[in-house]
Amino acid sequence: MTDSNALQGKHIVLGISGGIAAFKAPALVRLLTGMGAEVQVVMSTNAHHFVTATTLQAVSGRPVRESLWDEAAEAAMGHIELARWADLILIAPASADCMAELAAGGAGELLTTICLATTAPVAVAPAMNQAMYGHPATQRNLTSLNQLGYKLLGPASGDQACGDDGPGRMLEPEELASTCVTLLNDQTATTSSCAGLQVMITAGPTAEAIDPVRFISNHSSGRQGLALAEAAANRGAQVTLIAGPGVAASTAVHKRIDVTSALDMHAAVHAHLDACDMFIGVAAVADYRPANAAEQKMKRSGEAGAGLTLELVENPDIIASVAALESRPLLVGFAAETHKPLEYAREKRIRKGLDAIVLNDVSDPSIGFNETHNAATLIWAEGEVELPRQSKQALADQLFEHLLAIFATQLVVT
Ligand code: PMT
Repeated sequence: MTDSNALQGKHIVLGISGGIAAFKAPALVRLLTGMGAEVQVVMSTNAHHFVTATTLQAVSGRPVRESLWDEAAEAAMGHIELARWADLILIAPASADCMAELAAGGAGELLTTICLATTAPVAVAPAMNQAMYGHPATQRNLTSLNQLGYKLLGPASGDQACGDDGPGRMLEPEELASTCVTLLNDQTATTSSCAGLQVMITAGPTAEAIDPVRFISNHSSGRQGLALAEAAANRGAQVTLIAGPGVAASTAVHKRIDVTSALDMHAAVHAHLDACDMFIGVAAVADYRPANAAEQKMKRSGEAGAGLTLELVENPDIIASVAALESRPLLVGFAAETHKPLEYAREKRIRKGLDAIVLNDVSDPSIGFNETHNAATLIWAEGEVELPRQSKQALADQLFEHLLAIFATQLVVT
């Protein structure tokens, strides 16, 4: 993924706070410098428990800054100069404590002081135990950071160093590095504002019950939908997220409705569609459901080799049902295709009555369902644009910018 010039000449302050994910910081520094960035590492006091300044100095080629009170370092480049030097500040990992300090506007450490003094964008990659992440105090701090204009990158969900499973994992260095490229090089990606725009996004899979313990579903993680929700919210849009099972938490969205089945999703979409300006269907909705979900857990027949036939019935096509409304929002669908991708996606856009469709060619196993990265072709009536493989967050930013530009005249918000 690395373009050796993508960050040429850019100055990045990499803030490292105290968390186990700090062990990934040297790899992140190497990725950033490999793309041409100059990286100045600033460690919090607690970061030293997880990674050494010696390693970070070796990979960044610069002495690590740690203290406000280091007279020699301050004489070389004082903290205010450092704040001005930065084109971007990235804090990875950002511990719960670090985020609390930032949200409160604290300046007790060199890192938080620089964040207060800079005019550069500050991106924060949370990393902590899932229970700490879910605590109302942390969630409140995330909301404050979002309102203060900090860019929140992640977290991802999954296995944690402490043995738990859930949201709170720092995004991988590759993903963070590619988001830095987007933040720094694609200026438009951070500047368009859509305050007042009402956006509804569906994300994740649906699960169709066979009996009380079994269901039919798919591999959608909800990452791409969530990334789009965050891209829209970061630009000031009011976002309603209709989330299928397993979609991670996010503080960016204003309203979230959790659903299980396609019928639930259909009902939730129509119940909250009022005043919606843009609807983006990212969810991988099951096209069929068992005709009759059994009320009790189904048992094996007992006969050796006996099969089981399930009768399936068609689910409503949610996005097409919105397209059929007399007064409808701008409609953007997604299509994950494994063969003849362009042909099928173009046809799907027209058949469903959509303004645009985003094609994922999932014959490439490194993108799409349950991956951290994605590549897409955005297709609308008058054109097509290819967006290369990148993190789902970076892709969401680019997609959203394209949509705002292409449909600018239809998205005038009063
Ligand atoms: O969730 P991730 O792991 O991040 O993965 C993202 C993704 C690969 C799931 C996503 O990028 C994607 O491609 N989503 C669409 C998946 C798909 O193949 O959809 P579809 O071809 O079945 O449907 C086309 C469009 O109609 C979609 O906008 C879908 O939301 C919508 N639809 C489909 C069926 C249905 N009953 N109702 C619908 O609204």
